[in-house]
This record gives sequence, C-alpha cells and structure tokens, in this order.
Amino acid sequence: MDLYQINEFAKEIIFEAGKRIRHSFSYDMVVETKSDPNDLVTNIDRETESFFIEKIKQFDANHRVLGEEGMGEKIESLEGPVWIIDPIDGTMNFVKQHRHFMISIGFYVDGIGRLGYIFDVMREDLFYAIAGEGAWYNNSPLRKLKPLTLEEAVIGINASWVIPNRKLNHEKIIELVRTVRGTRSYGSAAMEIAFVVSGKLDAYISMRLSPWDIAGGVIIANEVGAIATNLNGNDVNLLTNDTFIIANPSIHQLILNSYIEQK
Ligand code: IPD
Ligand code: CA
Ligand code: CA
Ligand code: CA
Repeated sequence: MDLYQINEFAKEIIFEAGKRIRHSFSYDMVVETKSDPNDLVTNIDRETESFFIEKIKQFDANHRVLGEEGMGEKIESLEGPVWIIDPIDGTMNFVKQHRHFMISIGFYVDGIGRLGYIFDVMREDLFYAIAGEGAWYNNSPLRKLKPLTLEEAVIGINASWVIPNRKLNHEKIIELVRTVRGTRSYGSAAMEIAFVVSGKLDAYISMRLSPWDIAGGVIIANEVGAIATNLNGNDVNLLTNDTFIIANPSIHQLILNSYIEQK
C-alpha cells in the first residue's frame, strides 16, 4: 500500500469537497434535526459524505468507509483499510456562522492510524499527518509540543461544563477552570483537536465524542506528542462513543489525576 499516493488522493478530495461546501452557500441549505432539536444535519453534510464515499470507492473498491451520516457501510471491525469521516464537524457553526467547521478524516489499516486530516473549510487550512513521518499545517511541519504548566495552559471546554452534571465532580472542574490561564469553546471538536496539536490550545476535554470526531485528530496528535485518551486514561476506541481528552503531554496526566473525578 502506497501511503504517499493515498495521501495525495486524500488531500485532493478534501480540497475538492471544501470547494463544493463553500459553493453551497450560494444555494439553499436544508436544515433538519436528528436526535434532539439542537442536533443539526444539512443536505450538505450528507452530500459531502456521499462525495467522499464515491471518490474512495473509485480509488479502491476494497476500502471501507465509516461516516457520521451513515452513507458508508456498517463497520463492526477495523480490519483492512477503513476511512473514518466526519464530512462537516461543527454543523451548528456551519449553519449559523458559515465558518469554524472542519472536514475530519482518519485513514486506518487493521485499526492502526496511518493518515489523519482536519481541514478548516473556510480558511482553507489543512492540518494533517502521515504516521511515523510527521505532521503539517499546510506546508509547514508541526513541531513537537513544548512542555508547559497548567497555570500557563489554555483549554477547550464546552458549555455543558457550567451545568453540574451527573458524570463528573463539578467542584473539581471549577478548580481546573480557576487554575488554567484561560478557556475557549469553539463548537467543533476537530477544530479544538487541531488547535491542541498545533499549540493554540493546550487541552480539550469532552464527555462524549464519536469516532469520526477524533479519528483524524488522534493520528496527528501522535506525531506531535499530544496525548489523546478517554477520561479513564485508556486508548480511544474508534468503534463507539466515549469520553475524550487530548492534551499537551506535560499536563495530560495531571488533569486526569487531579481534576477529572468521574462519578
Ligand atoms: C459535534 C461538534 C461539537 C461537539 C459534539 C459533536 P458535529 O460534531 O464536534 O463541537 O461538542 O459532540 O457531535 O455533529 O457538528 O459533526
Ligand atoms: Ca452531527
Ligand atoms: Ca462531529
Ligand atoms: Ca458532522
């Protein structure tokens, strides 16, 4: 398998999909809801996922695709070559703000991450990695993350953190927010992961993410030394939803040990 060839192909279809999504703002978008009134999906999410599947099947009919919108096959194991795709990560931003949404793609072979992509569609910014070869932000290599203290860290959180919840010790989260230098909330998990791997954020935590939110990002994380696990500190599972933390290696364990207390 020629990973360089697959990488060139992946970049080509990502740029092409980005162009199609930007063009979609000039015609009507159909917005529907899924599991609840705030869980949005549009015709463009679905069309983009179909576009990727069609291109990948033309490239190699043996490659399988797991996509958020369910247009690919039902994937129960990661055997062989599998693409894990979120056609638009941050659909609410896409609908409401027309910015701050990502295409997120991971390419796995027998469960091992080989190629990872996070593409900021409106900025036309690509974060990507080839496993074992390094990671890039457009044409510039991404460096290994430099150590820092928790007091210097800026962390990505989301609004659910301000609501006392059943699963975490809320007092500890308040203590974490008080300790760090700042918090941010961008509304796209893939964007927050891209920011951690490029040092624009130092950690990002979520109580529930799906494989397609993180599949591309964890491959990039590996190349820059960012640590991505679930909130129990275990490797992420790419077949189910799970909790998630990605962080600079100097604060990952500290956050888990001192501030994340699951009930
Ligand atoms: C969502 C975004 C959001 C995160 C949600 C995800 P979607 O993805 O990444 O930031 O908090 O958990 O489901 O639905 O916009 O692809
Ligand atoms: Ca969604
Ligand atoms: Ca997503
Ligand atoms: Ca999505």
